[in-house]
Amino acid sequence: MIEIKNLTKRFGHITAVDDLSFRVQPGEVLGFLGPNGAGKSTTMKMVTGFLAPTSGAISVCGHDVLTDAAGAQAAIGYLPEGAPLYPDMNPRSMMRFVGRARGMAPSRLTARIDEVCRLVHLEAVMDQRIETLSKGFKRRVGLALAILNDPEVLILDEPTDGLDPNQKHEVRELIRTMSAGKVIVLSTHILEEVEAVCTRAMIVAEGSIKFDGTPAELRGSSRFAGAIEIAVASDHAEVAQRDLAELGSVSHIGEVVEAEGETRFVVFPATDAPLLEDVQRVAAGASWSLVRLAVDRGRMDDVFRTVTTGQSAQGA
Ligand SMILES: Nc1ncnc2c1ncn2[C@@H]1O[C@H](COP(=O)(O)OP(=O)(O)OP(=O)(O)O)[C@@H](O)[C@H]1O
Ligand SMILES: [Mg+2]
Repeated sequence: MIEIKNLTKRFGHITAVDDLSFRVQPGEVLGFLGPNGAGKSTTMKMVTGFLAPTSGAISVCGHDVLTDAAGAQAAIGYLPEGAPLYPDMNPRSMMRFVGRARGMAPSRLTARIDEVCRLVHLEAVMDQRIETLSKGFKRRVGLALAILNDPEVLILDEPTDGLDPNQKHEVRELIRTMSAGKVIVLSTHILEEVEAVCTRAMIVAEGSIKFDGTPAELRGSSRFAGAIEIAVASDHAEVAQRDLAELGSVSHIGEVVEAEGETRFVVFPATDAPLLEDVQRVAAGASWSLVRLAVDRGRMDDVFRTVTTGQSAQGA
């Protein structure tokens, strides 16, 4: 597992990581979210032993990263930001080079290169010079190198960045299938990705933790969770909103958007109110009719903005 205690990194007057403490257990896939410059990559570089902390302690699978970086690194597969690669090598020779450097036995290495090549779909480019590969293929080579020796801990800095939608999907599947018994930490700017692959979501901003919970808790903490989005014909929008606003289970109505003769708005519940039943009852007996009704599960982008800037995504 990974254990981070009071980790701080300063670059001159910039505090990139500010007294961060957390643990990640085997089986967990931790999604690191946060605005640009939040300190995600800096934290990952310190966990992998590529950057020395200003203060604090990191242990990976029982190895202290500061005093036993080699021991920790033996357990880690790391996909760095931007995937630095040797441009003159091809994916096959680069994998062989990295595998040998990691002390893999030649027979295991050969078998594993074939396996990993299939897993990240590099078959067509295995013998092509890396500098001539497209961005997404370079990313896939980086990912192949990170998982080459099937490490216990995977640190993946924006693993799906630059991949096409099919590859994004496949890499998420790959991460999910690899996750049993492993510790995986990945960073991403795609909020849905956290829901698709992670068991735990952490939002960092200005170097410290702003949220730590499951993706469902993240979504559920949105002010939209449990609210109902309604669409009616614009001619009826005013009366519909008036009828609904009278309900005791409604706290307020907001987010009104009019487009193409249709008006959408969001009905926010008073605390623990049986909003859906009430709305359906009122709609059934009303002079206006519903075009659409949807209960909101909460909006990740709203929570993200709220916890990282103190504002909401769309003012209610
Ligand atoms: N080598 C360095 N020297 C000076 N400042 C640095 C260095 N590396 C990172 N920083 C600063 O540390 C802060 C955190 O950067 P970091 O790369 O960790 O952010 P991030 O969360 O990964 O952002 P992004 O989402 O853009 O990848 C930023 O203000 C960045 O400019
Ligand atoms: Mg980064």
